[in-house]
Amino acid sequence: MSWPSETLVVPSILSADFGAFRSQVTELLDAGARAFHVDVMDGHFVPVITFGPRVVSSFADLVHERGGTIDVHLMIEHPERQIPEFAKAGADSCTVHVETCPHLHQTIKQIHELGMTAGVTLNPATPVAAVREAARYADLLLCMSVNPGWGGQSFIEASVDRLRELTALLRPGMGLEVDGGVGPQTIERCRSAGATLMVAGSAIYDQPSPADAWKALTALAGA
Ligand code: DX5
Ligand code: ZN
Repeated sequence: MSWPSETLVVPSILSADFGAFRSQVTELLDAGARAFHVDVMDGHFVPVITFGPRVVSSFADLVHERGGTIDVHLMIEHPERQIPEFAKAGADSCTVHVETCPHLHQTIKQIHELGMTAGVTLNPATPVAAVREAARYADLLLCMSVNPGWGGQSFIEASVDRLRELTALLRPGMGLEVDGGVGPQTIERCRSAGATLMVAGSAIYDQPSPADAWKALTALAGA
């Protein structure tokens, strides 16, 4: 699997209504969404605990039957211990934090050997240069535009410059994702700065109609 070069708005299920989870995913698929972002948090690397592989397997069928992608963002220590379980559960892409991976080349190789695309991300205060070498091997760079851990935070403005810096590291066919505080006020600047995959949690799921919110963001992103 490779990431498309056109812009995609990617719902983050962190803000989903878990009582209506599968029906919300179906509504978003019907609206045209084809990638879903799963935020995995361990209570160590970030203070919060969220999902494990069973959440991925609980909706992988819906996404895959429409040709979609499950994009897992691992905000966890020792991600290499968990990556095989996410692959088995149906993840198509795994993104790891440079801050958690002392052997990042090896971790990217592990993700590839399990048949997934590999993403690398970095916290807002980590210099962009920290992912320069890994960009030779990864399929996706993810710019955190908030501190990882919670949905609904404000977009950190310096992320626009950081996205521009990250574009200089992209090889043909790589995706540039932005995650955190992406919504109607910020999505156009992210697109202009080079982002192709726009993760949005609260800007989609905290709206009266997630499907309509996805369509409006997609129109704003020029996708
Ligand atoms: C934050 C997560 C995000 C989160 C974004 O740690 O990585 O994916 O869902 O939420 P919003 O779009 O509400 O900022
Ligand atoms: Zn995320």
